[in-house]
Amino acid sequence: MRFRQRTHTCGELREKNIGEEVVLNGWVDRRRDLGGVIFIDLRDRYGITQIVFEPTFNKESHDQAAVLRNEFVISVEGKVRRRPADTDNPELPTGTVDVMANKLIILNEAITPPFRINEESEVTEDLRLKYRYLDLRRTKIQKNLLTRHRMYQVTRKYFDENNFIEIETPVLMKSTPEGARDYLVPSRIHKGKFYALPQSPQQYKQLLMISGFDRYFQIVKCFRDEDLRADRQPEFTQIDIEMSFVDQENVFEIVEGLMKKLFEEIWNKDLKLPLPRYSFDEAMEKFGSDKPDLRFKLEMVTLNSVFMNSEFKVFKEQIENNGIVTGLLAQGCGDYTRNQLDVLTDQVKKWGAGGLIWMRVKEEKELEAPVAKFFSDDEKKNLVDTMKANPGDLIFIITGPRLKALSVMGFLRLEMAKRLNLIKPDAEPQLLWVTDFPLFEWDEETKRFYAMHHPFTSPRLEDVPLMETDPGKVKAKAYDLVFNGSEIAGGSIRIHNAELQAKMFKALGISDEEAEHKFGFLMNAFKYGAPPHGGIAFGFDRMVMIFAGESSIREVIAFPKTASAVSLMDDSPSTVSEEQLKELHLKIR
Ligand code: AMO
Repeated sequence: MRFRQRTHTCGELREKNIGEEVVLNGWVDRRRDLGGVIFIDLRDRYGITQIVFEPTFNKESHDQAAVLRNEFVISVEGKVRRRPADTDNPELPTGTVDVMANKLIILNEAITPPFRINEESEVTEDLRLKYRYLDLRRTKIQKNLLTRHRMYQVTRKYFDENNFIEIETPVLMKSTPEGARDYLVPSRIHKGKFYALPQSPQQYKQLLMISGFDRYFQIVKCFRDEDLRADRQPEFTQIDIEMSFVDQENVFEIVEGLMKKLFEEIWNKDLKLPLPRYSFDEAMEKFGSDKPDLRFKLEMVTLNSVFMNSEFKVFKEQIENNGIVTGLLAQGCGDYTRNQLDVLTDQVKKWGAGGLIWMRVKEEKELEAPVAKFFSDDEKKNLVDTMKANPGDLIFIITGPRLKALSVMGFLRLEMAKRLNLIKPDAEPQLLWVTDFPLFEWDEETKRFYAMHHPFTSPRLEDVPLMETDPGKVKAKAYDLVFNGSEIAGGSIRIHNAELQAKMFKALGISDEEAEHKFGFLMNAFKYGAPPHGGIAFGFDRMVMIFAGESSIREVIAFPKTASAVSLMDDSPSTVSEEQLKELHLKIR
């Protein structure tokens, strides 16, 4: 079966090619028979070209074409012509021409695919993932992977131009404490011992700084065994960065430069720098989230000062106990029915708040609500003024422990933005930094502090004395980059001093032995002259998702897993043979 190399791709022919003899190779996207003539849409990753098999032009190839079905792989030789009047297809870049076939070679047949490749018809995601190789023939996902490819290239070029060195780090390593569960790999040679797959190359990149590599980056796979969502996969890709002799500003500058380049190259858009910055506290108070979506305004308002002297027990208790009273104005929602409000109240309770207080703003800015009777006239007036509320609006109030109440109100903010249709599809993309994260996070269940970022993150130096007296108040030199409400990068300035690191472990309740066992090699390395250093890592898949205009990272990963961490295509994870288990010294209970 000899076939000629293509002269053009299926997306290439234009009017200037009319009259040329060409060879095209590709897949049958669609076949139509009209009045004895067979039309084939021939597809490759560059586009679609119409091929015409006409008996009067070439009887043999017309007869052969009778067997063609969708997804057959063919090679066609023919002549480019202007399409007859009124048969142009303005949807296709090649739509003013077609190819009159005088030779057809069928390179391969195809059985009927489980879904149509050529239509953006509704296909369940499970079916798409089971036949991912067919799904990947579809234009939309091919476009996404092309965007991803271009983003790799821009990234590599940018870092190279800025003197960064790309260095690979091991995939089989010792467990890294990044907060998620590790994927473990049993060792055959060392009975009972395990490697971990890296949750990130965090420790290696810090070691590289100690080695003097100064500016490192890597586009690297990371593995985390955690609950999955639309923006989380068990294996995902980071653009990992570390720099020596830097403070936060230097890291920001490099990251902002990359984002500007990507805006330019991928979207042909200018990104205004520097990016806005919000402290963690401010982001939480205004937006109820450490990854606020700023594509719509809708800010929350802290009402503690309004209700400072309130007799209303629920508020009084919270304010006295360092809790918060936070409000949200839903403009024009004053006519929400009781039923609608009950639904929202239930929702808010599911998110973890004690309840939802609502008040309708009436004429003369009077308040109508079951709780209105508990407030003085002054408080009501003050509330309406502080919320900048008008007749016809609805005020929501949530109170509770600070972070809890704020984040629940943050969810309600997103919910109301959806209901009020505040996120416009053409909204300007919004990038921002969130800074000054708390160093520690208190866990009610285990009654201990955890590192909010990771245990190598430096506290703000002025807060170091608080590490022993009031750990909850210590702020970290940690930062996140947030893009349209999605956390796309996170990093920090690291601790490079053994004494401070020991303090950190102590605050985290990590004993000397445990620290030695888990991070001994890193601690030891720090003794040989560690430069001040810091870095950041991008969630590359999330970034591509946003640039590609998708809402799930599965749409920008060639072979993703489902939300339950399964690959439907190759059916992994799967069982293994007794022999394999035995070699690994494992027994399945
Ligand atoms: P962090 O844990 O914040 O930091 O991860 C960095 C970024 O990676 C992305 N990300 C994920 N993307 C897809 N699926 C996942 N399961 C997933 N988990 C995280 C997020 C996140 O912002 N070593 C540090 C970085 C540093 O300090 O330099 C780290 O890994 O977009």
